[in-house]
Amino acid sequence: MNPIYPDLKNKHVLITGGSNGIGEALTRAFAEQAAEVTILDKDYEKGLTIAQECEKYPCTINVYGVDLTDTKSLSETLNTIKKEKPAVNVIINNAGYDPRYFLLDMTEKEWNDLFQLNVVHYFITCRELLESSIKAGGGSIIMTSSHLVWIAKPNLIAYNATKAAIIGMVRSLAEAVGKYNIRVNAVAPGWIMTERQLNQWVTPEAKQKTMEELQCLPIELTPQELVGTYLFLASDTSKAITRQTIVVDAGYAHS
Ligand SMILES: NC(=O)c1ccc[n+]([C@@H]2O[C@H](COP(=O)([O-])OP(=O)(O)OC[C@H]3O[C@@H](n4cnc5c(N)ncnc54)[C@H](O)[C@@H]3O)[C@@H](O)[C@H]2O)c1
Repeated sequence: MNPIYPDLKNKHVLITGGSNGIGEALTRAFAEQAAEVTILDKDYEKGLTIAQECEKYPCTINVYGVDLTDTKSLSETLNTIKKEKPAVNVIINNAGYDPRYFLLDMTEKEWNDLFQLNVVHYFITCRELLESSIKAGGGSIIMTSSHLVWIAKPNLIAYNATKAAIIGMVRSLAEAVGKYNIRVNAVAPGWIMTERQLNQWVTPEAKQKTMEELQCLPIELTPQELVGTYLFLASDTSKAITRQTIVVDAGYAHS
């Protein structure tokens, strides 16, 4: 059971990557709050399935199939949303990818493509929606970073750079838009057992070592362990919190 924040009822929440993994858990949790949720994801079909499953809540879910790395179609989609939907109160920039590369054995294109997804779409979304959030009297922007900024794995150099960029963006943006009553924060998750992580990277040994030796708390982290932090940062309950990065990793990273 998630806590219910009455002020989130009827709020318009936009989530990038809202069809799977962490984003999917967030879509479902904001639907439960009776919010209007707009998903931007290349996995359009899965977004529609979630929308159908959330019909049990008094919410509205809008699904847009878009490749977030295609700046032109992302901007066009955001323009449509601005024209057709209520002003966005909560922006959750979340979609991202974590490819492993041996040292710097990575092409410039691979580097740029990763930044296009993990950083540039976060910037474009804020740029296109900020004006309407200002007109709406304020809001909350939440960006998904990673605890790897502190852990700094050797095969995740580019990924780490993108996630550190997010923390920098959050701090500067919070300075710039605080006067409009817009708060900007990051969540830095630990190793979250999403379907993709389980299929792609997780081994039983690595998972056991993470839980028993690397984390302070010997618990398995799933998207559900993150939901409360995003809801809290979206709601007015955290109205004095901005410019922060909250690490949710069961005590793995040491800053
Ligand atoms: N899972 C973890 O262990 C973990 C840890 C720290 C940070 N993160 C971060 O959390 C965020 C979400 O990760 P996740 O594990 O839930 O990933 P995921 O792969 O489970 O879900 C990502 C979602 O983004 C969508 N997406 C990816 N590329 C896209 C594109 N080009 N255009 C449109 N949609 C696209 C996918 O379709 C999917 O629905 C990412 O920014 C990731 O870096 C994840």
